[in-house]
Amino acid sequence: MRVAVVCASQYGATLGIAERIGAELGLAGLDARVYDAAQPPHAEDVAGFDAFVVGSAVYMGHWLKDATTFVRRYQPTLLEHRIWLFSSGPLGSATTDADGTDVRESTVPAEIADFTNTVRPVGHRVFYGAIDPDALSLGHRVIRKFPGAAEKIPAGDFRNWPEIEAWAREIARALVTPA
Ligand SMILES: Cc1cc2nc3c(=O)[nH]c(=O)nc-3n(C[C@H](O)[C@H](O)[C@H](O)COP(=O)(O)O)c2cc1C
Repeated sequence: MRVAVVCASQYGATLGIAERIGAELGLAGLDARVYDAAQPPHAEDVAGFDAFVVGSAVYMGHWLKDATTFVRRYQPTLLEHRIWLFSSGPLGSATTDADGTDVRESTVPAEIADFTNTVRPVGHRVFYGAIDPDALSLGHRVIRKFPGAAEKIPAGDFRNWPEIEAWAREIARALVTPA
């Protein structure tokens, strides 16, 4: 069973999540390959995968372009295969926002509603992400200086590895069960 894990990552936090998912799928006996969405599998190879896990970092409420381009370009193929989506976004340790809404719900990126219809993913997960302020582009540093932004974009690594691994194991279990 061949699985492509494709992700878009600006600074590496999401790529780290994708690599951990790929490693866990490998431990479960699946042939998992991890790709940066900027250098996805060749067009002629995409249909050769049995399943896909596609993820992106979230910026200003949206997936990165390379990830959305991959999903849109290969939509007909993805629709015919099992696909899981993930987003790496929220930072910090709060689980609810100012309105009391679960942070994982309020940070679901805009594209997911569309993808739910177009590629019918088995599921979509929001994972907490990571930011190293020293690594940020000038533009992102400026955004972090807006009033209130630094609290919403706190520095640190908030990736929950046990949760990410458990999700990958769920995917592996589903894949060894007929669709
Ligand atoms: C300028 C900026 C804007 C961000 N906007 C969002 C956002 O709208 N929603 C969200 O959940 N996370 C947001 N984040 C957090 C990142 O998505 C998160 O840190 C992610 O793990 C970074 O992944 P990467 O290193 O793969 O790019 C933002 C971070 C920065 C620096």
